[in-house]
Amino acid sequence: MMSRTLILSFLVWQLVYISGSLTQAAGDGRWELLKRSIGISAMHMQLLKNDRVIIFDRTDFGRSNLSLPNGKCRNDPNEIVLKIDCTAHSAEYDVLANSIRPLMVQTNVWCSSGAVSPDGRLIQTGGSNDGERAVRIFSPCSGCDWVEQSLGLTAQRWYATNHILPDGRVILIGGRQQFNYEFYPKSASTNKLFDLPFLLQTTDLNIENNLYPFVHLNVDGNLFIFANNRAILLDYKKNVVVRTYPQMPGGDPRNYPSTGSSVLLPLKNLQQSSIEAEVLVCGGAPKGSFVKAQNGNFVKALSTCGRIKITDASPKWSMETMPLARVMGDMILLPNGYVLIINGASRGTAAWELGRNPVLNPVIYRPDYQSGNRFKVQNPSSIPRVYHSAAILLRDGRILVGGSNPHEFYVFTGVLYPTELSLEAFSPSYLDSDFSHLRPKIIAPDSQAKLKYGQRLVVEFLVTGAVIEKRVMVTMVAPSFGTHSFSMNQRLLVLGGGKAPSSISKSRYEVEVMMPNSGSLAPSGYYLLFVVHGDIPSEGIWIHIQ
Ligand SMILES: *[C@@H]1O[C@H](CO)[C@@H](O)[C@H](O)[C@H]1NC(C)=O
Repeated sequence: MMSRTLILSFLVWQLVYISGSLTQAAGDGRWELLKRSIGISAMHMQLLKNDRVIIFDRTDFGRSNLSLPNGKCRNDPNEIVLKIDCTAHSAEYDVLANSIRPLMVQTNVWCSSGAVSPDGRLIQTGGSNDGERAVRIFSPCSGCDWVEQSLGLTAQRWYATNHILPDGRVILIGGRQQFNYEFYPKSASTNKLFDLPFLLQTTDLNIENNLYPFVHLNVDGNLFIFANNRAILLDYKKNVVVRTYPQMPGGDPRNYPSTGSSVLLPLKNLQQSSIEAEVLVCGGAPKGSFVKAQNGNFVKALSTCGRIKITDASPKWSMETMPLARVMGDMILLPNGYVLIINGASRGTAAWELGRNPVLNPVIYRPDYQSGNRFKVQNPSSIPRVYHSAAILLRDGRILVGGSNPHEFYVFTGVLYPTELSLEAFSPSYLDSDFSHLRPKIIAPDSQAKLKYGQRLVVEFLVTGAVIEKRVMVTMVAPSFGTHSFSMNQRLLVLGGGKAPSSISKSRYEVEVMMPNSGSLAPSGYYLLFVVHGDIPSEGIWIHIQ
């Protein structure tokens, strides 16, 4: 007979499980509140090469909780809510100083998109109202602010996805009522729109379910574009769909407002003649969830992920089940090649007021573990991060988490999920002090090193408390533009894997790697470089490849 305590603990476990908060007393990872309020809600975030994060939400919220400096005000006759506004809707977060500086954005950046150019400037585009065709540029320099061109785009781009290209241009794909793409900057031959019927074909009746498409630059230079429940490979230069991938099993939508997320898994074995690329798509909301949520029926989110080798001759989706169902989760590539799934809710969909049951526990996915053993639930935050929240990787390996505002305006009382102006950091367990003796510290090259495609690179590092016996990898990560649960331009390359580094002197080692040999593998620009010992990454350094 089962003992009473056993039955009791089983019941308690069931209760915890059913309530949807699978909180673990002694799980992995640590949360830290960085700022109780930065004065705006972090709907969009981008880390730049000077360790500052550019953050913005919308200009049509009315007053934010952050004043513009020196009595400055924005006077915009086109603004819908507040024509003279002395508050900021964008800010620069200094990671090292943990401080915030208000920025002046002139046009409405709501639900916009972005990418970082090879010279390190944030090229940010589109939005709503007077911002729908704007191009805004932010240079990473001290005291700098937005420089805007209000009619820089050919079409309005609201809920579009941007990607940096091997030639240094940015491609802008889709957006509301836009079944096309365009480029920035423009030349005489590209100063137009290019049709993309796939975006019309993936539009569900009345509900898009294909906004903020998941775009990944494949190793062959073509673009993998996932929208709703299927994907194509686009040769954007010739405007030809070169491949159509099978529909994901189950057929449920994965894009806004059924917002799931997606990553290009770490690219490895870069010296081989044929390099493989795999894409992972996780979470979302079952078909019909949006209309049901509008009627007060908050359907359980999807708990499945689909993984597909996009370079395979006959690619197939392989399905896996997450320990927690999730809509509006962000997927972030960690320096050690794992994937963090963070933020979001377990019921409802994206869009105002339509998410329920926040998922407070992140989950880590380990791509190289055996199927069935890849997910690991992490310790929970105490702050719900539902619609309009964001997450990005920082140079020190922490994840910056902010935002969450499922309301049309800032609302702090009398609602289920108040507007969040706070910033938190999630530290995966690799940052635990228990691992200090294993943690590498890069001593060469210097941060901001300029590197060339295909060059040999010797990385020198210290490991003070242990003899190196585990595998060592060098990885490089493109800092991504995070909004609406998708990290644009995110990619991680493993430059050398499983190598035995050579010892130079006590605690001092070097490992030789080759830089990727083309812009299709890694578009020119700034990346974070890490040495990973076992699964423990060093602090990153900035490198520039061209
Ligand atoms: C933002 O400002 C409003 C109005 O002054 C105030 O009621 C609210 O508490 C502030 N919120 C935060 C998080 O600071």
